[in-house]
Amino acid sequence: MALITWTAAQYGTNVGFADDEHKILFGKLNNLYDLATGGAARPAIGAQLDDLIAYVVDHFAHEEKEMIAKGYAGYDVHKAEHEALIGICAGLQTKFHAGEAEINEEVGQLVKGWLDNHIPKFDMAYADALNS
Ligand code: FEO
Repeated sequence: MALITWTAAQYGTNVGFADDEHKILFGKLNNLYDLATGGAARPAIGAQLDDLIAYVVDHFAHEEKEMIAKGYAGYDVHKAEHEALIGICAGLQTKFHAGEAEINEEVGQLVKGWLDNHIPKFDMAYADALNS
């Protein structure tokens, strides 16, 4: 079963590129979750983890570029949120590839919980500015 399902009601930002990228990001997270909880080989899990994290970094950079372009007042706080998650992901990525951490249910729920908070609280807040 998918870890996270995009719906407009729960995750829609009214910003086209953000919704498109969030849907792709959710798909990559679900793939990772399915591999990790389905007993896939470690190299396959690691490759999907790397792919997901690279996509998250690109997505955050895209949002930040658009926020800067519009002079969005909430940029600094939003960017700090992004950097906090990237820090967590980078640590997990390093530990996973060193054989010191696993991707499991707990990790999946942690990332889902972060998205459940971040998209409604931070991403939806930039809609008016980015659509102006
Ligand atoms: Fe869509 Fe601010 O992350």
